[in-house]
Amino acid sequence: MKLPNFLPSRRKPLLGLDITTSSIKLIELSESGGEYRVEAFAAEPTPHNAVNDKAIVDANAVGEAIRRAVKRSGVSTKDCAVAISGDNAITKSIPMPANLAGNDLEQQVELQADQYIPFPMEEVSFDFEVLGPSERDPDVQDILLVATRTENVEQRVAAVNAAGLVARLVDVEAFALENACKLMSYQMPDGGVDHTIAVIDFGASTTTFSVLRDMHVIYTRDFPFGGQQLTEEIMRTYGLSMEDAGRAKKEGGLPSNYQPELLEPFIDDMSQQVSRSLQFYLASGSNRTQPEQILICGGCANIPGVSDVIGSRVGIPAEKGDPLGKMRISTKAKSLGVHRDATALLVACGLALRSFDDNAKY
Ligand SMILES: Nc1ncnc2c1ncn2[C@@H]1O[C@H](COP(=O)(O)OP(=O)(O)OP(=O)(O)O)[C@@H](O)[C@H]1O
Ligand SMILES: [Mg+2]
Repeated sequence: MKLPNFLPSRRKPLLGLDITTSSIKLIELSESGGEYRVEAFAAEPTPHNAVNDKAIVDANAVGEAIRRAVKRSGVSTKDCAVAISGDNAITKSIPMPANLAGNDLEQQVELQADQYIPFPMEEVSFDFEVLGPSERDPDVQDILLVATRTENVEQRVAAVNAAGLVARLVDVEAFALENACKLMSYQMPDGGVDHTIAVIDFGASTTTFSVLRDMHVIYTRDFPFGGQQLTEEIMRTYGLSMEDAGRAKKEGGLPSNYQPELLEPFIDDMSQQVSRSLQFYLASGSNRTQPEQILICGGCANIPGVSDVIGSRVGIPAEKGDPLGKMRISTKAKSLGVHRDATALLVACGLALRSFDDNAKY
């Protein structure tokens, strides 16, 4: 089955909808004269146990939470873009004869896809994109094949439909993240051109470390680490519910031993994750060069001072990444705290940016 992103031509905004184990984030962007504006935003906690380890297990509960976020945000469209996680996606560059295009190319990719996909084709959704002529052979073009089990798409589509929205595009988180990195180019030396920059997104349960060269992702790795570990320590240590622990972490008011005994060790862990990620990246191929800067993103980047600590531990300048830093923001989105969540909005922004793809067909 082809993914549902080949639709009649009509340019309309797409909401970026990031559904994770911990929260549902929704953002609508508009563009004018090359500048983006945040039109609408909302974040809503994911209902308990509705999303388990990246899989949506209760589409109705997730749908209800999306519906609440939609209502609060005041978005102008029902069309949205969602992402599946990298773990659930198979992405492969495959060779195809350079003279194939259009329907012929589509048929050939479909015929050959099963060689590259370790599941029965009837259980798989896939799409592809022409990357360009092969560097090795002028008669060959490289095609990027992306596939996932159809159930991964269906779970998301079911949740989105339960909220009264329509999933117009299914992306892969890592691609959305790459797309969002261009929103942070203003923070990079020379706008990132000809530079090597690392971006680390510390979420609630997953952290994604990526390295950009000339603004293209050349390395990416997901691993299970995130703020949920600190939340659980707070729950255990002070006997708080998950909700209260999560709130106290952001708003303060914890006993004085919190900083030295819980928070500082957690920041140490974050630094160590960055060091290890750098080592894995440097060992992943020849001509890997040390990044010149690290942008620290994701909800955990909001811990005061954390970028400075990480930067000085690993010896690379680090700062908090802010994809909204150059955007105008609607009064409503401001009042809903979009600034507070900005660094955690990479995936949602990357999805919303799909509205402005040159070949957008929505
Ligand atoms: N001000 C803050 N201080 C400390 N931690 C914070 C703060 N704001 C958010 N967090 C933590 O950041 C985490 C959420 O980050 P984020 O929204 O990036 O994760 P996510 O995308 O929902 O999860 P994942 O990517 O792991 O599926 C939570 O653990 C939350 O407690
Ligand atoms: Mg995330």
